[in-house]
Amino acid sequence: MKKLLTGFVAAMMAASMAACGGSGAASSQPASSEAPSSQAASSEAASSSQAAAAEPEFVFRYAENQPQDYPTTQGAYKFAELVEQKTNGRIKIEIYYGAQLGDEKSVMEQMQFGAIDFARVSLSPLAEFAPQLNVLQLPFLYRDGAHMWKVLEGPIGDEFKDGLGESGLIGLSWYDAGARNFYNSKREVKTFEDMKGLNIRVQENEMMMDMISALGANPTPMAYGEVYSALQTGTIDGAENNWPSYESTSHYEVAKYFSIDEHTRVPELQIISKMTMDKLSPEDQQIIRECAEESAKVERELWAEREKTSEEKVKAGGSIITELSPEEKQKFQDACKPLYEKFAADYMDIVNKIIETK
Ligand code: GCU
Repeated sequence: MKKLLTGFVAAMMAASMAACGGSGAASSQPASSEAPSSQAASSEAASSSQAAAAEPEFVFRYAENQPQDYPTTQGAYKFAELVEQKTNGRIKIEIYYGAQLGDEKSVMEQMQFGAIDFARVSLSPLAEFAPQLNVLQLPFLYRDGAHMWKVLEGPIGDEFKDGLGESGLIGLSWYDAGARNFYNSKREVKTFEDMKGLNIRVQENEMMMDMISALGANPTPMAYGEVYSALQTGTIDGAENNWPSYESTSHYEVAKYFSIDEHTRVPELQIISKMTMDKLSPEDQQIIRECAEESAKVERELWAEREKTSEEKVKAGGSIITELSPEEKQKFQDACKPLYEKFAADYMDIVNKIIETK
């Protein structure tokens, strides 16, 4: 119910924003549209037109589900700052962090009808809108982070980023989110068998649910913001995520057994609503794309630092960190192989190119 209401309120807010000049046509008028009715008002008219020049032509909303100090949110601020600079204040982007505009799924739904303009989202929920993206987050696909970036920054990454097609969303730039690992409140997971029967929260994505089942555990899909209390109340035994998320959500305080298995690298994408993009001139579209790419460089640097500090913080906080032996990791990997056929059968040539990328 709470979720429904949040989505409803966000949609209402967006609708009223659009009515107040969120769209290009409306906002190219001065914010105060009361026309002066007499000559005596000419000085007022002059000052009002100066005010109009300082008014942004577009005010856009950007959704981010991480907290303010998180690398992706800092990337968003950089993006907004660059766009504002390069358009001399004509385009203003307001950042709503901490899932203020709703969880990722509802944000994307709102973006499809232009109620939210921008977001940074994880590929897992995005792949429910554009299933081919599952290819880029197959379990155990990349050897390491460098391998993933080689792929994302090359023609394969471009093709997927530019190919969101019918989803009503357009990809702008890739953001880093490291590797994901399992953690739980019950026991140390050292072997493949230790996964058996654990109730694990996954992102709302069919392939990720299948992955948990393939590993012998029980998947529970749920939005990110609900995981802490589900762990705390025991509705779930565990979840999986990267170091900074495990730390920033305080999941480490309620699920202290963390196993480094690096089962997935789920990239993240900055996206824009197609409806918003269509309002912009080709020049402004170009500025948006360039600033998004520029902001991604900042995010990646901050990400690398945050991975380290988060790891230190959870260790200091009492997390039990377990390294899997290569033999056990291989069992995880083997169990996930059928997912390649189920979710990437039409893309095996690309999967092979990814694997061969050096
Ligand atoms: C990461 C990602 C989030 C996502 C979350 C999740 O933290 O940055 O965008 O919501 O994983 O597990 O749902």
